[in-house]
Amino acid sequence: MDKLVVTGPTPLKGEVVISGAKNAAVAILPAALLIDGICTIENVPNISDVKISCEILEKLGAKIDWIAPNTITIDSRNITTTKAPLDLTSKFRASYYIIGAMLSRKGSIEVGMPGGCKLGARPIDQHIKGFEALGATVTVEKGKIVANAEKLVGNNIYMDIVSVGATINIMLSAVLAEGTTIIDNAAKEPHIVDVANFLNTMGADIRGAGTDVIKVNGVKRLKGDATYSVVPDQIEAGTFMLAAVASKGDLLIKNCITKHLESITAKIVEVGAHVEDYGDSIRVWCDKRPKSAKIKTLPYPGFPTDLQPQMGVVLSIANGTSMINENIWESRFQYTEELNKMGAKISAQGKTAIFEGVEKLSGSPVYSTDLRAGAALIIAGIVAEGTTEIYNLEHIDRGYENIEEKFRNIGANIKRVTE
Ligand code: EPU
Repeated sequence: MDKLVVTGPTPLKGEVVISGAKNAAVAILPAALLIDGICTIENVPNISDVKISCEILEKLGAKIDWIAPNTITIDSRNITTTKAPLDLTSKFRASYYIIGAMLSRKGSIEVGMPGGCKLGARPIDQHIKGFEALGATVTVEKGKIVANAEKLVGNNIYMDIVSVGATINIMLSAVLAEGTTIIDNAAKEPHIVDVANFLNTMGADIRGAGTDVIKVNGVKRLKGDATYSVVPDQIEAGTFMLAAVASKGDLLIKNCITKHLESITAKIVEVGAHVEDYGDSIRVWCDKRPKSAKIKTLPYPGFPTDLQPQMGVVLSIANGTSMINENIWESRFQYTEELNKMGAKISAQGKTAIFEGVEKLSGSPVYSTDLRAGAALIIAGIVAEGTTEIYNLEHIDRGYENIEEKFRNIGANIKRVTE
C-alpha cells in the first residue's frame, strides 16, 4: 500500500504547469468511438481514469497508441463488440459516456454500472431520459446497463437538473442521430465546450455548447483524420491556486484558461490573497492569514464542487468563522473529519459545514475519501506543522498527473512511500 508523506509547513513558491483536464479527457476518449477513422488527441493527462478508458476502448476494438507522453492516436474504424467489460466500466464514473457514444455509433451497448467517488447518490436518470427521447430502450439490472436502438432520431430534451454527465452523454448520442436534437437547461462547464469542439473538429455539427441550449444536427459519419488538444484542467489549476493561498506561498500557474477560474479567483481575492491574471497563466500569492468567507457550490460558472475541499483547507485556517454550502453532492464533507484529526474545527451537517478558523494544523495520519478530498489533504499536509501521512492514494491517482512531483518542484516536502 502506498502513502504520501508530507512534512510542513512550507510556503509553496515557483511555477507549475497544468495538465489536460481529466473530466474533458474521460469524455473525449469515449467520444472517439463515434469516429469512423483515426484521430490524434494531445494534452491527454496520464492518470488512472484515462488508462482505464483506454483499456475499455481497446476491448471494444479501438486501437490506441501513445505516440508521445501526453498524445494518443485512436483508430475506431473496427469496433468489434458492443459489450464493454463490466469490471472495467464499474471502476470509474465516466464509463457512462461509452453508452452515448456506442448507441450513436452501433445502436447497442452493455456496460457495468458506473463507479467513481462516493459522493452520495449519483443517479443517471437524466442520461436515460435523453437516450429514450432519441428512441433507445434502456434497462438497468443486476449491476449493468443495456441500451439498444434500431435508429436514433433527434428530439427536444429538457434536462430536469443541470448535469455535466447527462449533457455530454446526450450530445454524444445525438451526433450520428437522424435530424436535430436540442438539449435545454444544459450544463455549461468548460469540458462540455471541449467535448463539443473535439467532435466538431472530427466532423460533427454541435452548436451552443457553453450556453444552456445545445443544438446537435445529426451527421452521417465522423471521419476524424484530425488532431485535437484537451483543454487545461480548471480544477487542477484551482487546486494549485488554493495551495498557494493556504501555504502563504507565491505560485505562477501556467497553461490554464483564466476565464475558467473566475469564481475561484473572486473567492481568493475575498479571503485577502492576491491574483495577477495573464490570460493563459495566473499568479497567486498570499502574505497573511486568510480571512473567513462564505462559499456556495454551484454548476459552472458558479464555485465548483470539485474545489470545495481544497477551499475547505483555506477556511480551516482562516481568521474567523466560515461557511460552505454544498449544493451538488450529498456527501462531500467526508474530508472535514480528516482535517479535524489535524486540528481543524469543522462541523458538517447535511449540505452545510461551519469552519471555525484555527491558527495552525498539525500533521496526522489521514485517509483520502475521494479524489478532491485527497488533493485537499495534500494541501493540509503542506500547511501543517509536522508530518502528515495520506492513505488511499488510488483516489488521487485517478485525477492528478504527477501530483507529488509537481508539488515537490514548488518546494513541498512530499514523497510517496510503499509500505
Ligand atoms: N444528477 C441527477 N440525475 C442524473 C445526473 C445527475 O440527479 O441523471 C444529479 C447528481 O446526483 C448531482 C447533480 O445532478 O447532484 C450534478 O451531477 P452531474 O451529472 O453534473 O455530475 P457528474 O457528471 O456525475 C461531473 C464530474 C464530477 C463533478 C460534477 C459536477 C466527471 C467524470 N465528473 O460528474 O467530478 O463533481 O460533474 O461538476 O466529469 C471530480 O472530478 O472529482 C468529480 C467528482
